[in-house]
Amino acid sequence: MKYTGLTDVHCHVLPNMDDGSRSVEESIGILKTETAQGITRVIATPHFYADRDTLQCFIARRHEAELVLRQEMTLHSDMPELFLGAEVLFFHGISNWEGLEELTLNKSGYLLLEMPFVEWTDVLLDEVEEISVKHGITPVLAHVERYLYLFNAKRVLDDLRRRSIMIQCNADFFLQRNTARTALKYLRENRIHFMGSDSHNMGRRKPNIGDATEIILAKQGSAPLERLSQMAEFLFDEQ
Ligand SMILES: [Fe+2]
Repeated sequence: MKYTGLTDVHCHVLPNMDDGSRSVEESIGILKTETAQGITRVIATPHFYADRDTLQCFIARRHEAELVLRQEMTLHSDMPELFLGAEVLFFHGISNWEGLEELTLNKSGYLLLEMPFVEWTDVLLDEVEEISVKHGITPVLAHVERYLYLFNAKRVLDDLRRRSIMIQCNADFFLQRNTARTALKYLRENRIHFMGSDSHNMGRRKPNIGDATEIILAKQGSAPLERLSQMAEFLFDEQ
């Protein structure tokens, strides 16, 4: 069974931009795989590290990579739609930083935020919440499943919900034997707002949302996938 129409909100598909795709050919391979798996929209989310990059340099490099990829995409018919975003690593002071809007997913006001591998204290989560208070930008925490072992997951997930901080999970969460049950449980509980492949290449980290949707369809039917599709629409509303 295949579900068509999902958006990949987290993908390192831009060529030579970060530790993702190493060539435009690889990027095309990633995009073809997305289409084959029923993904109709892909948001390119290269890593942004505020301690190594300026906003201006990042935007310029991202634009260059986008141009190269779009040019090549015109030669292929089976391409998903491509949009721009970033995966922004949390840093202290982020809530006072100007420029976040520019890095949001398709300039939608939703920011894909990579959290540090430390305990998420109240102080840290307060700063994440401040991003929405000060800028009206909704933080979406990238691949939350990677951090769950660090803390009392239920308590933190409840806290995130209370603070209106959203959650993105990787398709992998549904595909690993030791996490699949938890992934399905969180999906059933409506705790997962966005799905991403976090694909970096056509090797060990190729697009895999289609594999996850097969599992979800088999276990829970299409309703949760419809919900994820509807959530993704918020990223494409007319500004
Ligand atoms: Fe990523």
